[in-house]
Amino acid sequence: MAKSKTLFICRSCGHQEMKWLGRCPSCGEWNTFSETEGKSGSGKKEPELSFSIPLKAIEAHDGERYDTGIEEMNRVLGRGLMKGSSVLLGGEPGIGKSTLLLQAGASAKVTGRVLYVSGEESSGQIKSRAERLGIDNSNLEVFSSTDIGAVEKVLNKVKPVILIIDSIQTLQSRELGAVPGTVNQIKYCCHEIVAWCRERNASVFFAAHVTKEGSIAGPKIIEHMVDTVLHFESATSEIRVLRAVKNRHGSIDEIGLFVMDSNGLNQVTNPASLFMVQRDGDMPPGIAVAPVYEGSRILLVEIQALVVPAKGGFSRVYSDRIDTGKVARIAAVLEKHGGLRYSDQDIYVNVAGGIRLKEVGIDLPLAMALYSARTDLSIPSGTSIAGELSLAGEVRPVQHLKRRIKAAREMGFTSVLGPAALREGDSPEESWIRISSIREGIQKVFGS
Ligand code: TYD
Ligand code: MG
Repeated sequence: MAKSKTLFICRSCGHQEMKWLGRCPSCGEWNTFSETEGKSGSGKKEPELSFSIPLKAIEAHDGERYDTGIEEMNRVLGRGLMKGSSVLLGGEPGIGKSTLLLQAGASAKVTGRVLYVSGEESSGQIKSRAERLGIDNSNLEVFSSTDIGAVEKVLNKVKPVILIIDSIQTLQSRELGAVPGTVNQIKYCCHEIVAWCRERNASVFFAAHVTKEGSIAGPKIIEHMVDTVLHFESATSEIRVLRAVKNRHGSIDEIGLFVMDSNGLNQVTNPASLFMVQRDGDMPPGIAVAPVYEGSRILLVEIQALVVPAKGGFSRVYSDRIDTGKVARIAAVLEKHGGLRYSDQDIYVNVAGGIRLKEVGIDLPLAMALYSARTDLSIPSGTSIAGELSLAGEVRPVQHLKRRIKAAREMGFTSVLGPAALREGDSPEESWIRISSIREGIQKVFGS
């Protein structure tokens, strides 16, 4: 338990002293010290005050972080795992959550102990997985149980600095009934573990199963209790994408890329060409290559479109990697400004490698893929495209155009089609084909 001690805090600047002083040595104010019960123990706890402190007087602290030993994971967490933080890792069954957490637990650079609690597998099963992954790590300890009471006892003995709970749905408190995975069980167990970890400045990962539909059905109810929520999803059968959907300690823009093979998850350190299809000769119609900005990196991706006469007379959009609303909007812009009809067509859109694309820079390449699919005219190989489109058919500037052009060139694309206008502060030296409207783009690429 935490010990209580008396603290004196300056109401003017927040300066702390162990004894009362008439004048604050920090800000020079008189009679500003108040006595308060401070809790020490974790060393990180804020003293419990009965008055507020001026914001300008509070020292910000960006806490210490652990290197998980997995750079792709550090990146998504935000330069590593914050000490004392809680992370929920959601993903479909079989996606690789246990594998990732076991690998991270084993490779994390910590001086204390790392505890892997499994409610799904026996210690023997975990050991054989570890052998398959080539893990032989003395820091890592394993406890197989579904009983939160037993887990808490082990926690108090082991006092891990990193704790892994695999999975939150398998833990249960006897007092709350015999069925694990209910809303009450999940909430209670999560609360208990998070509280234990906060008190001791330990970090915790919770693995959580999500349904095919993508919502963390059960675990959704604990997203607000943790600092960070990560999703682990598959792009292709081997490629795995790690994303943050909530992050108190970092951005939610970064992605981590892995390839699953027989030795577990391997980091993809040079992802530029991961989502490209290798082809010889001409490009088939309906395909456009785009340098997209994902997190802090540029990836070259292939957007594929197929346009066929609508069955049943009205147009439908089938697209699960790019938002269907965006596809419909770009088709409408093309119909208005590109002189083609899509309203009697079914539109299918896919992204090679299966990565989900959200950024605005894919508007223009998507438009070109749709135009190419509708007209059967191929986009010349060696051309890559980036740009945002307005409803009026204007090509708008995109972030990091210079880096996109550079990445495309490195991948062997001789010409880049992009916005004529630059973003403020952007002045790429590289040359590219500058267009300011979709009409101009169609002329430049298809010559019509
Ligand atoms: P797992 O980590 O158990 O998934 P989750 O915890 O999300 O349910 O991974 C399960 C799948 O990963 C399983 O189909 C086997 C595969 N796998 C490999 O391909 N290579 C490996 O080295 C390991 C450990 C698993
Ligand atoms: Mg698992």
